[in-house]
Amino acid sequence: MPNRAHSTEASTASVIKVLNELRARELAVIMQYMRHHYIVTGSDGLALAGEFKETAVTEMKHAESLAERIDFLGGDPTTKPDAIRTGDSTLAAMAEADLAAENDAVMLYNDAIATVGALGDVTTRRLLEDILADEEEHVGTFRRMLGR
Ligand SMILES: [Fe+2]
Ligand SMILES: [Fe+2]
Repeated sequence: MPNRAHSTEASTASVIKVLNELRARELAVIMQYMRHHYIVTGSDGLALAGEFKETAVTEMKHAESLAERIDFLGGDPTTKPDAIRTGDSTLAAMAEADLAAENDAVMLYNDAIATVGALGDVTTRRLLEDILADEEEHVGTFRRMLGR
């Protein structure tokens, strides 16, 4: 089945907009999780520092995959991150903020998959489905950190 991403300029522009919104969020969580990685390294959460970092690296891959797709579609990948959740630097508060970010991600990727699917861009939809599976794993990572 042909990819109809290029069927109209309007639908391609809509896909690019969705991808850039997702990328802005990925850029934010990269900084949020790396910040937590640095903070937790010097505290009693040492064993968990690697988990924050590993999650951040996966988000970097997401941001890059989104950028490549945006570029392929003729768009300009955003370099402006969304605001990050800052707050208490206790391990519980950090994991709670990160779990909230991942719950948002699952919701946003589900919405984006529906939108992009309706626009007929099968390739982008498949990319977003793969990322969604990672985000669901991240929900599990932060739940485990919180003992849930
Ligand atoms: Fe991500
Ligand atoms: Fe994630």
